[in-house]
Amino acid sequence: MNQQAPPSAALSTPEALWQAGHDHLWLHASPWRALAPGHKRILVSGRGCTVRDLEGKEYLDGLAGLWLVNVGHGREEIAAAMARQAATLAYASATQATTLPAIQLATRLAALAPGDLSVAFFCSGGSEAVESALKIARQYHYLRGERKRYKFIARRGSYHGATYGAMSVSGTRQLTEPYFSPLLPGTLHVAPPYCYRCDYRYTYPECDVYCADAIAQLIEFEGPETVAAVIAEPVSASGGVAVPPPEYWPRLREICDRYGVLLIVDEVITGFGRTGKLFASEHWNVAGDLMTVAKGLSSGYAPIGAVLCRPQVAEAFTGAERKLSHLLTFGGHPVACAAALANLDILERENLVAHAAAMGAYLLEQLQSLRAHPLVGDVRGLGLLAAVELVRDRKTKEKFSPEDEAMQRLAQRLAEKGLLTRVTSMVFLAPPLCITRPEVDRLVAILDSALHELEQDLGYC
Ligand SMILES: Cc1ncc(COP(=O)(O)O)c(C=O)c1O
Repeated sequence: MNQQAPPSAALSTPEALWQAGHDHLWLHASPWRALAPGHKRILVSGRGCTVRDLEGKEYLDGLAGLWLVNVGHGREEIAAAMARQAATLAYASATQATTLPAIQLATRLAALAPGDLSVAFFCSGGSEAVESALKIARQYHYLRGERKRYKFIARRGSYHGATYGAMSVSGTRQLTEPYFSPLLPGTLHVAPPYCYRCDYRYTYPECDVYCADAIAQLIEFEGPETVAAVIAEPVSASGGVAVPPPEYWPRLREICDRYGVLLIVDEVITGFGRTGKLFASEHWNVAGDLMTVAKGLSSGYAPIGAVLCRPQVAEAFTGAERKLSHLLTFGGHPVACAAALANLDILERENLVAHAAAMGAYLLEQLQSLRAHPLVGDVRGLGLLAAVELVRDRKTKEKFSPEDEAMQRLAQRLAEKGLLTRVTSMVFLAPPLCITRPEVDRLVAILDSALHELEQDLGYC
């Protein structure tokens, strides 16, 4: 037995818990020993849009955990569905069998998904969904005899996950390449539809959405016979919630069709009501050939993701010698599928997608009032996915670095005032879809006062 670890029964005081977490728990995307009072919190319970920490302080969950607790915290109905399934049958291996909840969930998703995305491949989260979609895309072309199609085109600023393929297509290379290169060969990146800071210095609508046409040019340059897929989020959260112009997605669909390139729509954040439609693709009446989902699929009650495929894609894998060469032990886990089914019941019964559209419009309207702050460069969003972009100077749009002490102070102030959310050079807002108007008002009031204090500190007023 490791002498350095106390027995878990000894973790009965807050001090002991803080110390043990500090010593033994390595938090994701964090330095070693990041758990410290006043910096990170130990959360113990949640209900609706509110979470409570070990010391009893309550916070508005401004990011729904990490963009995913769509139905809100404390849903006993989902917990009960998971418990029932775990007690009935906790596991079955895809190599020999499947389970009732997996079939029920796949069927339900087929009915809900845009276009003819009607075949589900289950996994445990967003990175696995993206990793699976990339592999499905490459093997699809191989099986159809187009064996040179291995390249993926993605957008700068996008985030598609942490595993190797997903990391390679993510447009956040400056954060990963120094440590993890060489990344997956054949991953190419283009400019995002980020009108506030257009890479081409163009202005919409005069630009005629050149950022979409640039993808066609890249495909031509690389040789269409070498390109497997384009992957993109309908609205990139990591890229700053830049809502693309209306022409962008239909144009991208047309470009992929023109060159026989698969379109992978990454709805890991935008799926399940986040943008005020069940899937964000619906805003533009577009469907991918493959669609990745996770997060809101179970609202975080269980780790689950999926790749939803068009039948044309799945059909390429027909026959024993053409099987998908990809297996995940936890794919289609029945307890996770049961959680997702109960989550979808709540989304539908409580009309949370329409509620998200209404509350999202209200949130965006209220956030516009923050434009009076000298630090606020832009305010944008779609449904309950929003960002307030902060700048040092509104004319030059000079950015803050996410590591800037001012941004960390802002995050700290927001938490002290009772709002948990993500602050980089932007303040991201994606609360649970069940948020109420008074909660939206509170969220905006906290942000308003924290910005005002920061501006005082920095000498803006
Ligand atoms: C668009 C998108 N795709 C994929 C992922 C990866 O999901 P996960 O963290 O569940 O692996 C994320 C995570 O935030 C995401 O935002």
